[in-house]
Amino acid sequence: MSERFVAIAPSILAANLSCLGDEVRAVGAAHADYIHFDVMDGHFVPNISFGPGLLKAVKQTTSLPLDVHLMIAPVDAYIKDFAEAGADIITVHPEAGPHLHRTLQLIKSCGVKVGVALNPATPLSAIEPVLMDIDLLLIMTVNPGFGGQQFIPSCVEKIEMARRLIDIIGKPILLEVDGGINAQTSAIARSAGADILVAGTAIFAADRGDETDNGEFDYAARIKTLRGGA
Ligand code: DX5
Ligand code: ZN
Repeated sequence: MSERFVAIAPSILAANLSCLGDEVRAVGAAHADYIHFDVMDGHFVPNISFGPGLLKAVKQTTSLPLDVHLMIAPVDAYIKDFAEAGADIITVHPEAGPHLHRTLQLIKSCGVKVGVALNPATPLSAIEPVLMDIDLLLIMTVNPGFGGQQFIPSCVEKIEMARRLIDIIGKPILLEVDGGINAQTSAIARSAGADILVAGTAIFAADRGDETDNGEFDYAARIKTLRGGA
């Protein structure tokens, strides 16, 4: 099977937030392709993370595209704020508002790429009617809300189905996989057809025994592993 190029999107949820600018610059220097920014509201998901103020600060530290994953509901009222703060892609969940099509048009009207995310229990059919309105399809391989969870194998079939569907319709929709990505599961997601792999713990976690001689983490090696050694 011919290997497609797989982009890597480090999730800063797992970064050392006491030196976030350095962390973002470090993964940029290590050839990351995006910065993944997880927004959680303590309501749609049982955790609270970051808002547009932090996104604006991150934007000042990198030229990488900012891939903003909104796990908030209702979502519409916040889209403009994240677009103005520097998002390049905004991804929403279909459960995050009553009118998904309207939400996607709102993202587009802000001049930002449009993404939609599927939870493990949300079928592909939930977003089939809006496939022509999106630039990115995110398949969650954990339930959203926390980093460091285990990849759910039953989601792999959905990645494969999404790959086939995208290839059939012929629109260059990016297929992103998010949750529990590590050296082993990245290979599974790649061969299922992913274009972008999100990884928090696998890139940023400490105490992995792979520190360089001067005690730093080798983000380039970790990213290369997730890409399949290429
Ligand atoms: C989970 C988030 C993920 C998370 C991934 O709700 O959407 O982006 O940061 O973290 P890991 O890679 O640790 O599973
Ligand atoms: Zn995410």
